[in-house]
Amino acid sequence: MAITLRPTIAEIRLSAVRRNLQKLKKTAAPARVLFVVKANAYGHGAAALARLAEREDLAWGFGVSSVEEGLALRAGGIISPVLVLGSLYPFESFVEAINADLMMTIASQDAARQVIEAARRLGKKAVCHIKLETGMGRIGARKPAALKIYDELSASGAVSVAGVYTHLSSADTDPAYTAGQLGFLTETVSALAERGARGLTFHAANSCAAVNLPASRLNMVRCGIAAYGLAEGFEPAMTLKTRIVFIKNVREGAFISYNKSFRADRPMKIATIPAGYGDGYIRRFSNKADVLIGGRRCRVLGNVTMDMTMVDVTHVKDAAVGSEAVLLGRQGREEITAAELAAMADTITYEIVTLVSGRVPRVYVE
Ligand SMILES: Cc1ncc(COP(=O)(O)O)c(C=O)c1O
Repeated sequence: MAITLRPTIAEIRLSAVRRNLQKLKKTAAPARVLFVVKANAYGHGAAALARLAEREDLAWGFGVSSVEEGLALRAGGIISPVLVLGSLYPFESFVEAINADLMMTIASQDAARQVIEAARRLGKKAVCHIKLETGMGRIGARKPAALKIYDELSASGAVSVAGVYTHLSSADTDPAYTAGQLGFLTETVSALAERGARGLTFHAANSCAAVNLPASRLNMVRCGIAAYGLAEGFEPAMTLKTRIVFIKNVREGAFISYNKSFRADRPMKIATIPAGYGDGYIRRFSNKADVLIGGRRCRVLGNVTMDMTMVDVTHVKDAAVGSEAVLLGRQGREEITAAELAAMADTITYEIVTLVSGRVPRVYVE
């Protein structure tokens, strides 16, 4: 493992992820849980969390966005089912996916033909799920094309169709639209059953639907955000923290950081922390976000820079070089939530944690 001396880390509480997954599993049952660990588990570290889930039987399998992410799980020792949720392109990647026993998403007839060809070439059966377009407008085949894809794949003998699924675009905001999407999926399921399809896994629900819409659970739910604790009723798993590396007292009129966006209107004590947009602590937090030091909220002063950020510690008597600073998460009685940061940056909690960059070590604690 690379040596880490810089004190900026993302601490991931395994106990929180465990409890979140246990709750999802119980809520979804008898539907299975596919733990969505794409984008390095939304910044939390995919291999480590998948290993926890596999070891403790907290999920049936894992959802990733690409063949590369699936291969990384296999390299990390994961043997459970892995479904690649993205559309596979270039088509050569089917070979890698089949070799590594990754289940593939097939969303077009072109892809269906390519997966058949790859499976035949390898002499190994491929397993896939057909993706249905029901209103997300991203990838997926509409019902008539999906039925043709199913017929072609099942007739080939080279590919086994294990499931059919869709993705809900507005489970958290538009119940009527969501019901419409589920209706399209159910219609397709019935049409497939008429064609003799048996034992397929049907799935649609993301975290929000899995928790709030029992009708969406079908055979399986695909949950990411709730497992990381960023949905209501779940425990946040990530704390982004660092330590003060420099302290100074400034006079009234002192400017702080690039482009002088902050000017001290009184004498102030200012701390520099070694975290910036190079760590995923985005520039939109400049002059807006708070950081926790000594259990107190301390305002970010001036523009966040690539590697360092300045904060006001005038009111924190004990603040010194080495003091802990929490950028996301709890310290004492205070908490900076991902929702608070997301609102400030006009984005969603998913983006706040996913942006925590590769140079920030993930440290796993119970
Ligand atoms: C296809 C698919 N399924 C499931 C999920 C998980 O969604 P959530 O994190 O809201 O649970 C995602 C995430 O965006 C996704 O793209």
